[in-house]
Amino acid sequence: MANFDNTMQALGTALHKCRHLWQPEPFHQTSSPWINSEPELHAALMALSHAEVHDLLQDSQRCTAWLEEILPSTINALNIWQPTLQSEQKHFGQPSIANGIPGRKWQQINYFSLLIDGLPPRMSNMDWCSGKGYLSTTLAWHHGVVFSHCLELDKKLCHIGKERAYDLEIDIDYHCLDVLKPIPDTIITQADRHTALHACGGLHRSMLKQVTQHAEQIVLSPCCYHLYNTPDANWLSETGRQLSLTFDRLTLRIPLLETVTGGERAQRLRETEIIWRRAYESWRQAFTQEFEYRTLASAPKSLFTQKVHDFFAWAADQHGLKWDRTIDPEPYLNKGKHQFELSERLEIVRQGVKRFLEYYIVLDLACYLLEQNYQVDVIEFCPKQTTPRNLALVAQRY
Ligand SMILES: C[S@@+](CC[C@H](N)C(=O)[O-])C[C@H]1O[C@@H](n2cnc3c(N)ncnc32)[C@H](O)[C@@H]1O
Repeated sequence: MANFDNTMQALGTALHKCRHLWQPEPFHQTSSPWINSEPELHAALMALSHAEVHDLLQDSQRCTAWLEEILPSTINALNIWQPTLQSEQKHFGQPSIANGIPGRKWQQINYFSLLIDGLPPRMSNMDWCSGKGYLSTTLAWHHGVVFSHCLELDKKLCHIGKERAYDLEIDIDYHCLDVLKPIPDTIITQADRHTALHACGGLHRSMLKQVTQHAEQIVLSPCCYHLYNTPDANWLSETGRQLSLTFDRLTLRIPLLETVTGGERAQRLRETEIIWRRAYESWRQAFTQEFEYRTLASAPKSLFTQKVHDFFAWAADQHGLKWDRTIDPEPYLNKGKHQFELSERLEIVRQGVKRFLEYYIVLDLACYLLEQNYQVDVIEFCPKQTTPRNLALVAQRY
């Protein structure tokens, strides 16, 4: 039996010890936070060429490997556990049941349903946060599920899903409900397997709390750990609650942070956006003499293809200020560029440890299920290219 509680404790200790590496938010740093605490790391980061930084940030595993060379004992202490790997690349064909399902979602659903192959068969399945019910139709089709249920908040998705299931001649009951609220036992007990593919933070936590009384099997792939949590949310497991490590919303979001995504144009736009935002912020601080960082709303990408003056005017307006277009933005842009270069370097470290933070979050769910008398496995169920949220908990009641 997997010893998830000991693993969680050991990983928690290692994460706590190196919290100075993952707590600083790169975007907000004006100088390296590791000049004194990790001089070797600081020197190695600063010695990287622009191309090397760019190359490392293509892949978080490269960042971990790089970090391991500089701080081997830190990474060794974190590297104490791995999920069961079932993520070798496969390609699933497109039968008629796949019609209308976006390609990548279809691949995810198939990898996810492979998790069920290893479990004793079940006749009934309830899919939480089901969207249109793509997973349910696939399970009914491939796994002989006779009684299929979908729980989904969005009425429109339920309606489209119902019509699709009807066209496919698959019988699915859609329950248009908010899973953050108590779901009546009369509904939950209609299925003995409960699934959720990519249910966000508070949603999957609420699901687990509600189903563990009833479910024979639970198959859950969690995502967006920072969303839908109540302000007093805590670790679900006793093991987690007894440990001193806590994660705030920003930390729960770290595993989701991807740096380099999209093509060259998307990357250029992202670079421009960060530089302009930092440049504006340094102007704002100098102008107002207020040195507390102030956030800006997200902006349409098109704004970053226009003149920098337009962006400054838009940003100043948000803070109740007026941007004077006769000001030369160049000195601020230079500062913005400098801070961008710095934050990219610092990001390598956060990218290098983010998977360990994710493991800790998921181990909490595994420990909770163990405590509720389930036999549990944590599985990396598909390649990262199919979805970076590729961890799943597979639980079978003892
Ligand atoms: C990331 S999507 C995943 C959908 C589907 N499982 C899939 O993999 O395609 C999350 C789903 O949760 C639903 N959702 C959000 N809040 C909810 C709530 N409070 N109760 C039930 N469903 C909710 C959303 O409408 C959305 O369909």
